[in-house]
Amino acid sequence: LENGMARTPPMGWLSWQRFRCNTDCVNDPHHCISESLFMQMADIIVNEGYRDLGYQLVSVDDCWLSRERDTRGRLQADPHRFPSGIPALSDYMHKRGLSFGIYEDYGNYTCAGYPGILGHLEIDAFTFAEWGVDYVKLDGCYSHPTDMDRGYPLFGYYLNQTQRPMVYSCSWPVYQTYSGLTVREAAACLVVMLTPQITFWYPEFGYFLNKTERPMVYSCSWPFYQILTRMQPNYTSIINTCNLWRNFDDIQDSWESVQRIIDYYGDNQQVIVPNAGPGHWNDPDMLIIGNFGLSYEQSKSQMAMWAIFAAPLLMSVDLRTIRPEFKAILQNKGVIAVNQDPLGIQGKRIYKDKGIEIWARPITPVFQGHYSYAIAFLNRRTDGTPSEVSVTLRELGLAYPNGYGITDLFDGVHYGTVLPDKRFKVDVNPSGVVLVRCQVIKGSAGAARF
Ligand code: GLA
Repeated sequence: LENGMARTPPMGWLSWQRFRCNTDCVNDPHHCISESLFMQMADIIVNEGYRDLGYQLVSVDDCWLSRERDTRGRLQADPHRFPSGIPALSDYMHKRGLSFGIYEDYGNYTCAGYPGILGHLEIDAFTFAEWGVDYVKLDGCYSHPTDMDRGYPLFGYYLNQTQRPMVYSCSWPVYQTYSGLTVREAAACLVVMLTPQITFWYPEFGYFLNKTERPMVYSCSWPFYQILTRMQPNYTSIINTCNLWRNFDDIQDSWESVQRIIDYYGDNQQVIVPNAGPGHWNDPDMLIIGNFGLSYEQSKSQMAMWAIFAAPLLMSVDLRTIRPEFKAILQNKGVIAVNQDPLGIQGKRIYKDKGIEIWARPITPVFQGHYSYAIAFLNRRTDGTPSEVSVTLRELGLAYPNGYGITDLFDGVHYGTVLPDKRFKVDVNPSGVVLVRCQVIKGSAGAARF
């Protein structure tokens, strides 16, 4: 979306993955969804250097709402958990140089069952603008996927009408791709769909119902499966409407979940990678680094891959108790710089064999038409001991004759200048990653080094 926002992928903090829909402020006041949680996170983001590294957004996810709209039909926050109200919370963020995000849903309800915006698109867009909202995440539960091609742009139109610039985060394609089904369920539907017999089974069963001579109402799911599996997200419209969009399932607190997302991005890269760029990003979902499910190596892998993906960096972790080694991963300047590279080109998987993957993302500086690159060597093996990966840059498609200055972004090791045909080795830990920056060496061609 060309609204001047999100020229690089948004960075900040989102409540959902770590705090979910904990509304029990009586028994669990430190972890429930309440204004004080967001204020505490904001203070840490400012005081512990996150803001100055780019993490500028603090965003409320689901479960902030009251069950009822107010007497004028406007949304309102839960009065017990947000006693000062949303405008005061947004003000709190702005005073600290942060931006403020909020969550809603295009359907009748949010995914957790609070009031959705359907039937109130205009009034809700204007309410958000009045409250000083800078970022809106619009989910898609309790709405029909076929209505989203109309509804998401319409809400975008109203956001635009408010004249307050707001980042617009959409969940539109994920609902169209799987309609809330797991990949396995969707695959099962696809099998049904691809079996032409579906067009015979329903009439055939109807025939037998009829033969019983007992009149029975016959309710079929037949077209639903056909629509479901045929729907292709309209990415042209999505790019024009949204600043970022989720394409795949919710992240969960596990390495398995992170890998599923990585596989989705690799397996579908021909369709989704070209859609990313300044102002419009694919969103593989939140960073779970520092929570319960990822080891240290796996956390570096998520951070590295989200940098390759040009993904929004939305931390969802308790910043009050995060361990220092995980904080260091989130605060790694070199990796953040790759993520925020101004070209905004999303990386691709260029090699995959026996549990080893190589991913490459073109970045600045560019010299004489040659990009610099971030290269991630990802080890999916878990059989113990690091795997050695040996490549030449030319094999990876990096052919600038003067070579590339290579730096490991996690351990800071400089490999010096490496020429395209020189063999270059890395050791990658089980379920870990090596992320290097290969910077094109400017100068007259042919100067040999390394
Ligand atoms: C959906 C979204 C999540 C989160 C929840 C809230 O599942 O994909 O990111 O916002 O709803 O209920």
